[in-house]
Amino acid sequence: TSPFAPRHLLSIADLTPTEFATLVRNAASHKRAIKSGAIPESLLGSLSGKTVAMMFNKRSTRTRVSTEAATVQMGGHPMFLGKDDIQLGVNESLYDTSVVISSMVSCIVARLAQHSTVPVINALCDSFHPLQIIADFLTIYESFPVQAHKLSSLGLEGLKIAWVGDANNVLFDLAIGATKMGVDVAVATPKGYEIPAHMIEIIQRAGEGVAKAGKLTQTNVPEEAVKNADILVTDTWVSMGQEEESKKRMKAFEGFQITADLAKRGGAKEGWKFMHCLPRHPEEVDDEVFYSPRSLVFPEAENRLWAAIAALEGFVVNKGKIVE
Ligand code: CP
Ligand code: NVA
Repeated sequence: TSPFAPRHLLSIADLTPTEFATLVRNAASHKRAIKSGAIPESLLGSLSGKTVAMMFNKRSTRTRVSTEAATVQMGGHPMFLGKDDIQLGVNESLYDTSVVISSMVSCIVARLAQHSTVPVINALCDSFHPLQIIADFLTIYESFPVQAHKLSSLGLEGLKIAWVGDANNVLFDLAIGATKMGVDVAVATPKGYEIPAHMIEIIQRAGEGVAKAGKLTQTNVPEEAVKNADILVTDTWVSMGQEEESKKRMKAFEGFQITADLAKRGGAKEGWKFMHCLPRHPEEVDDEVFYSPRSLVFPEAENRLWAAIAALEGFVVNKGKIVE
């Protein structure tokens, strides 16, 4: 790679533990400052004169709105390029499109894989969702007691996440982030829907060199995963692009709905919380849990804005140098 190659954020795996923890802490401190009416000097106009191209071939509410709002708060111009807006995929290849767009803008936030001469921030792909996981760890950081910690962690060591549902893109990056932060993840999926072997390797590699890496376990029994969990998490059973498997998946995932009864049967911690990246459907979590005081889903969604600001600051304003 050339010395001028930009640094991309494609997965939480691209970040050291210190960088990941720093992005979460920066998101937290920008949130506090901006909510109290004081935009930090370092953010004010930091994207002035810059365009952030957003290439999306899948639908999005949170990722689109948070990225556009974050870019505007930093003085930049967000340019949304949906799949019906540009030549990509119909008249032009991904390679040609990426080279051309990156010659004209400062950053590409994309819901697809990339070739670009400017930083690319992954807005969700089939394997990863880094912006979601920065927001998720910000939510956990704000909702649980934080222990004394070093630069390389958030002081959340020893927490346990139970993921009940499909092993998908959101889980993969969540598990990578959790491994780096010393948070254990127990995953329950139906048989045949487990984390693929190559992804387990990537998640385990995330723990290399981490003093107190989080542990990943898998089961096909939801109650087992939930035992002693601090946080119950799920996502859709049918990710975008899997619509044709919808019927088969609904059947396979029967019994995997998150309910208060499941938490009780499995023996989750008394003060357990619920998280979900959204959009949500009732089959994966019932209304009682989803709209309960245990549910962190709406602060979690709001935190996408603060995660987007921290990521744009780190990868565009500071050119990939992630510092406090
Ligand atoms: N959680 C999330 O990425 O939502 P959107 O698909 O609406 O962006
Ligand atoms: N797993 C979901 C996440 C959406 C934000 C999907 O890929 O559709």
